[in-house]
Amino acid sequence: MNILVIGSGGREHALCWAIAPSPLVENLYCAPGNAGIAKEATCLPVDPLDFDAIVKTCRDRKIDLVVVGPEQPLVAGLVDRLQSEGIRAFGPRASAAILEGSKGFTKDLCAKYGIPTAAYGRFSDGVAAKGFIRRTGLPIVIKADGLAAGKGVVIAQSFQEADAAVDEMLGGRFGNASESLVIEEFLEGEEASYFALCDGLDVLPLTSAQDHKRVGDGDIGPNTGGMGAYSPAPVVDADMEARILSTIIKPTVAAMAAEGRPFAGVLYAGLMITKDGPKLIEYNARFGDPECQVLMPRVFGDIVPVLDACANRQLRHVGIRWKDEIALCVVMAAKGYPGDVEKGSEIRGLDSAPANADTVIFHAGTKMEGGKVTANGGRVLGITALGADVAAAQKAAYAAVDRIDWPGGFCRRDIGWRAIGRR
Ligand code: AMP
Ligand code: GLY
Repeated sequence: MNILVIGSGGREHALCWAIAPSPLVENLYCAPGNAGIAKEATCLPVDPLDFDAIVKTCRDRKIDLVVVGPEQPLVAGLVDRLQSEGIRAFGPRASAAILEGSKGFTKDLCAKYGIPTAAYGRFSDGVAAKGFIRRTGLPIVIKADGLAAGKGVVIAQSFQEADAAVDEMLGGRFGNASESLVIEEFLEGEEASYFALCDGLDVLPLTSAQDHKRVGDGDIGPNTGGMGAYSPAPVVDADMEARILSTIIKPTVAAMAAEGRPFAGVLYAGLMITKDGPKLIEYNARFGDPECQVLMPRVFGDIVPVLDACANRQLRHVGIRWKDEIALCVVMAAKGYPGDVEKGSEIRGLDSAPANADTVIFHAGTKMEGGKVTANGGRVLGITALGADVAAAQKAAYAAVDRIDWPGGFCRRDIGWRAIGRR
């Protein structure tokens, strides 16, 4: 088969890395890709939001399957367009990607179908929003309804902070995405992510992971797209996994089918494991990044038949097996991230870094310039290692990080601390 992966981050590098060795693959392409992806796939300079150009690429390159990585093209309807052109695609249609595209839609769905989540209200009027905040109490969580690149959530500790967030968001901080707000109760507990493949009807449970959203060690500083992850998450044991599937994932897939919005693709649940059980924080309609960088190295066997079955609505006929090891990923970002960063600094030592076959360097914002790999974005590299436990994976990942010579970058030094502390 000829496969086209859409995207250019660490997630897409991990997908290409997992897809490339499959005996089923004849040609692998990535649009637009990055310097690391170029080792696994032919990178094509096509914009993920230029649907005409993607369709033309599919025709020219005789693509059998398109795997869409990021949320923006999904929410904008890339899968709808590809399917209407007779091209098979992995990922939800826009009517189902709304689970990520509108937090208000998801909250209303949870309310209608009894899926556990934080109590909430939806507002487009500041006075009503502030009244609700006073009635609910502190801390309080204020969210832009639409896509805001992971930056549209404020956890306010004071009414003053809450009111400022309401005014800023309704004032257009995130454009259309914050014309409407979800305001919700603060949940106490430990966060985890759970991933499942869905084909509209059937669910193939994948596994859990834990992300590190804050930029600084000890989980301090501003939120980022994710500074590191590990999988599986110890807080999601077999019993918790069964509860997540039976109270959250399966009811959601059934609800979406009942609403005439069958969800096909990766359903990524952001969860709070509270004393009353798992509660949904949010859904994403795609693999997480960096979470995908810890999921793919744990897959035992070929991922391509699974992705293809998902796109073909044949999920019930496939299974997936996982390695026994834990995977842990450390993200290296350009100095300044998640604020403004400088592009163009050279990264050396990438070839010497892998300590063994169980360590992989995934590229995110990188570019090849005159034979040199340079930084070309905020999050730049993801170093993933496998180990018998989180501590061993952490040690191996940082050993590889320490061989990378990149003065323009930084990383957290404590990825996995919570899991290691549990033992
Ligand atoms: P979201 O983009 O909805 O995942 O929110 C970003 C982050 O804000 C989450 O990963 C949580 O750490 C935090 N968060 C969101 N909603 C809540 C909530 N209701 N209670 C506590 N923390 C939350
Ligand atoms: N790592 C968080 C996300 O992919 O949304």
